[in-house]
Amino acid sequence: MSRATRPRAAVFDAYGTLLDIHSAVARHAARVGDKAAAVSALWRAKQLEATWVLSATGAYEGFDAITDRALGFALATHGIADDTLRADLLRAYRSLDALPDAAAALARLRDAGLATAILSNGQPDALAAATRAAGIAPLLGGILSVHPLRRYKPHPAVYALVTERFACQPDEVAFASSNDWDAHGAARFGFRVFWINRARQPVTYWLDEMATILPDLAALPDAILG
Ligand code: LAC
Repeated sequence: MSRATRPRAAVFDAYGTLLDIHSAVARHAARVGDKAAAVSALWRAKQLEATWVLSATGAYEGFDAITDRALGFALATHGIADDTLRADLLRAYRSLDALPDAAAALARLRDAGLATAILSNGQPDALAAATRAAGIAPLLGGILSVHPLRRYKPHPAVYALVTERFACQPDEVAFASSNDWDAHGAARFGFRVFWINRARQPVTYWLDEMATILPDLAALPDAILG
């Protein structure tokens, strides 16, 4: 298939791309205190690190448990010992806000006839709950989770879940992720990748050569549809 052909599916990373991972701490910012931003960033960093360590050692724990442990680490690192707050933050993670540009981009791609889906490290029930709470569930044709595979991104078997689901070739898939390492894994698998560089960070993982770099999802439909 030529690259000029319109993709059949637009597939999105969930956490950080469609869902605002910092909205959980933001909701309880007053209770977390002046370390709120640092706690949120460390929570995310340690959560992702655990997925890579487990994958590299051939082990697996569900994303819910990883997220809980990473939160415990982040709170403890900043000297916050409050079990009620920890439980409230974890609950908030199940109902994160959608990022402001997510719904419009999904709607436009769906209305253009593309299949829309999520491919995420999250567990199926958590993804279902989060997308419902964020109001984007009706815009998604599918939610693909790594959970049945028991392997995390960026293992190639994860990206193959998409081509299996849509019975298509990798280059028939447009894949959007704000996570540089996820964008790299997806590009290496052969997807047409759109790195949503929300943080305006310097280019990593050869993404200037392997992906289209966009500032946000508002720019995505035109970039995919031409
Ligand atoms: C996900 C994480 C990596 O949704 O953002 O898969």
